[in-house]
Amino acid sequence: MKFNRNDRPISVWRPIDTDTFLVGAPHYPEHVDDSFLERDAERMKAAGFNIVRMAEFAWHIMEPRENTYDFSLFDRAIEVLGKHGIKTILCTPTATPPRWLTQHYPEVLRTDVRGRPASHGSRQHADTSSPVYRTHSQRITRVMSEHYRDNPHVVGWQTDNELNTSTSLSYSEVTRREFQKFLEDRYDNDIAKLNFAWGGDFWATAYDNFDQVVLPLDNAPVSCSPGHVLDYHRFLAFATARFQSDQIEILREVNPEWFIFHNLGRMTDIDFRGPFSRELDFNAYDFYPLLHDEMQRLGGPGLVHSQHLDVARSHSGNFIVPEQQSGFGSQPPFSTLTPEPGEMRRMAYSSVSRGADGVMFFRWRPAHFGAEIYWMGVIDHDDIPRRRYDEAKQFAGEVTAMKDKLLGTHVRMDVGIAGADFDNEEAHKTYAMGLPSPHDDALILHSHCYRRGIAAGFIHPEDDLSPLKVLYVPHWLIWREEWTAKLEAWVRAGGTLILSARTGSRDINNHVIHDPAPGKPLTALAGVTVEEFGRLTPPDADGLFALGGMYDTNGKRVVKQTESSRRKYRFRLGNQEFTAAHMYEHLSLSDGAEPAGEWSNRWLEGQPVISRRAVGEGQVIYVGTYLTEDMMPAFEDQFIAPAGVTPMLEDLPEGMEVSMRQSDDRRLLFVLNTTSEPLDVPAGLEGSALIDDRKGNALQGYGVLVLEL
Ligand code: GAL
Repeated sequence: MKFNRNDRPISVWRPIDTDTFLVGAPHYPEHVDDSFLERDAERMKAAGFNIVRMAEFAWHIMEPRENTYDFSLFDRAIEVLGKHGIKTILCTPTATPPRWLTQHYPEVLRTDVRGRPASHGSRQHADTSSPVYRTHSQRITRVMSEHYRDNPHVVGWQTDNELNTSTSLSYSEVTRREFQKFLEDRYDNDIAKLNFAWGGDFWATAYDNFDQVVLPLDNAPVSCSPGHVLDYHRFLAFATARFQSDQIEILREVNPEWFIFHNLGRMTDIDFRGPFSRELDFNAYDFYPLLHDEMQRLGGPGLVHSQHLDVARSHSGNFIVPEQQSGFGSQPPFSTLTPEPGEMRRMAYSSVSRGADGVMFFRWRPAHFGAEIYWMGVIDHDDIPRRRYDEAKQFAGEVTAMKDKLLGTHVRMDVGIAGADFDNEEAHKTYAMGLPSPHDDALILHSHCYRRGIAAGFIHPEDDLSPLKVLYVPHWLIWREEWTAKLEAWVRAGGTLILSARTGSRDINNHVIHDPAPGKPLTALAGVTVEEFGRLTPPDADGLFALGGMYDTNGKRVVKQTESSRRKYRFRLGNQEFTAAHMYEHLSLSDGAEPAGEWSNRWLEGQPVISRRAVGEGQVIYVGTYLTEDMMPAFEDQFIAPAGVTPMLEDLPEGMEVSMRQSDDRRLLFVLNTTSEPLDVPAGLEGSALIDDRKGNALQGYGVLVLEL
């Protein structure tokens, strides 16, 4: 098993540098007795597994009393698995401190917004910004890693477990002091700088010194300054990365050969382009597709999955999936739909097709006790391997057989959507006004590309843009000047840059800029100045939807909306007319920019809604409103197709998805049927099949086709 440290900077195009596709399961030997060890290892080996992940919640077993250690259970498990050729990834167990720790050091507990300290009894209740907790985390990391320093079966580490997934917030005194220290550093110990950044002259929010600074308690009684809130989230991201750094430093010092990753969950308050990802060998993403389906209802299996996976890849490139949903899943308040026969394998291939260089099925077996007794595993409670075991085995055999073609490839993207920018995601939330977030808007374009079979994904503007034909920037409020020159060079070389409403309208302090939007650099590039902006209703809504007052307590509408109070603004794009949503901008054009779409009613009639400016070999488009699903076909015709973007597969039937992994010398096309019924594969596909679930021309329900082109 070879893993080389990646010396390439983090990038969406970066594969993991390894000769092994990791396939296996998170494993909890602490949930059964030792009589299972040998049997489990044998069955894993027979399934073709090469890896397990262990110990992320087992601190209390490894350090039952402060400074008293006992690693014997994991020593035995690692040894037995190793004997069967299965390597182990260990985890720093800091998501669940033992009870003695929270009892003796209650100051490590997070405190919620109402001042209530977290209790022992679940997880992620310790505050990663707490200096006392950091000391304990460093100690267990050191002792544990030194214990396993020379163990030949331990190949890598996961830091903690899904940092910030349960919560990232804390409002304790300890957190406040750490926040103050962070601010002292950020503002060079100069309180005047902080007061300027947060707008201290608005509502008397200025401070005399850093000791006075408070945590932003929203709705206590109303909203806090967007600058204050943004800095709190920057602080949380800083503290999370620092907590992880503590552990990485120790692990690297103890054994530099180990690979180190973190398994992302909800991805809250983590700045993925910062030290958090840069210090890791690669990122990992825990993928529960049917949980996302239910939570988001965005259009069926496949679509939602692809969005999550494309986001996971956008931070630092290819990733592994240490937890891939295998069966029915639940916690006490909810349960997910159940993967049908074949679907678990299909979902694993969706991960692979979108950048996973390793997949581990969650979990080897379900627990019989605790808060996840019905989170099913590869085998069942009764210890009988059934269809999920068979599918995991089939997947492991297939993916191992094609690993030499797969590893070293990245996921193709012709259309990039600007993403993975911490400040922009947070800046929107600090002052959302009921508008879609940049990511919500981006999903409209992403969904369109998914359905059409166009290679699309998320990318940061600082990444290598050269493989892209189109880059869409979804309402990025905070624009850094240095991005403009880079984007301009890419446009001059032929790229199509599409900017959208409100881009560049705030600065790094989250203040509205003093120049007309989108700010001098982007005005020069796009040839656009925003003269005025205003609110429009979302598609199919009646207006003022964000305010509760329109409905009585039975949910009945009490204000009658008329056509004119709905204020539908319409515009023309190509030869069609569309209703605009969320926001209008009144644009004036300069420097050769030309209208590419016009408002078609009310007071803006005849004014440009979309502009186009030729720059070198490429062009800059500015869209003075938000995307809607209705307009996407015309949007593709007008701006995406002319940039040379065509679907990877024409006439994709609904429910079939396509993705490509490629490198300089090979291209692998993944065609997946996300439905339970056979679907015809579009004609004209050539290439040699690595996996082929076709019968005649039909790809079987949940079937997989991988072609080397
Ligand atoms: C993940 C977590 C696992 C398990 C799983 C199913 O978020 O890392 O420990 O809880 O979800 O709920």
